Amino acid sequence: MSTSALIRPHLYARFASATERGAWSIDRDIAWHAVDRERALAQPDILAALRDAALIESFHPVNLARFLRVVWDDVDGCAAVGIEMYEGFKHFHALRMYLDIAGFEPAITDEELIELRRAGAARDFPASEVLEHLVEFMLSEHLAAYFFRRLAERAEEPVLAELLRYIAADEVRHAQSASDLIAKRLARDPALADRVLAAAVSFHHYGEEAIGQVPVAMPGDSIAIRTFAERIERLCGRRLVDHLKTTL
Ligand SMILES: [Fe+2]
Ligand SMILES: [Fe+2]
Repeated sequence: MSTSALIRPHLYARFASATERGAWSIDRDIAWHAVDRERALAQPDILAALRDAALIESFHPVNLARFLRVVWDDVDGCAAVGIEMYEGFKHFHALRMYLDIAGFEPAITDEELIELRRAGAARDFPASEVLEHLVEFMLSEHLAAYFFRRLAERAEEPVLAELLRYIAADEVRHAQSASDLIAKRLARDPALADRVLAAAVSFHHYGEEAIGQVPVAMPGDSIAIRTFAERIERLCGRRLVDHLKTTL
């Protein structure tokens, strides 16, 4: 390896290291045999939220395919999409497995997953809007982390609580990699900060396309909201409220 690569490694090397440090195994780290069905089914609202989350995770092949078509010229961006594709699949797989073991109804079917993808599969976004979609992606992952963390705090079934903590930690990493990709673009062109701020103001969770309403951590979770704004402000070096004042 050349010295310059050691001093300033690619972002993708950082993504890879973070992914390996955070890796957990569906087969080895989750005590599936110990799932307490009765306790799980005693919190149907949590299981219903998990079901929505599993559907959103299952939508990644549609959403990330769009990214891949427009970030092919960003070596780091492609790596982040690849990691998200695998770990998003893993989240879907683990959540569906948990719901099936708990016996939650209605069970998710493959037909349902395909139906959710049908309308969006043919839709793309223009390459000129990658930045806006990276912001949407980063903030969706950020809120997903809080969503899973809060569910973990509420879940009384211990296997689920542990699974949700693993997933929440993954989402923190995903939000960070999106943030790194945005920072890279801002370093090349600081004027893009206006677009990042505007995208944050008009933010919609990407999961809305999959299931309509998204069960985010947002309403009432003041920490999730504050850190949401902080992520943007750290990147742009400007306060979100100040940006709002100039646009109103
Ligand atoms: Fe996920
Ligand atoms: Fe994710």
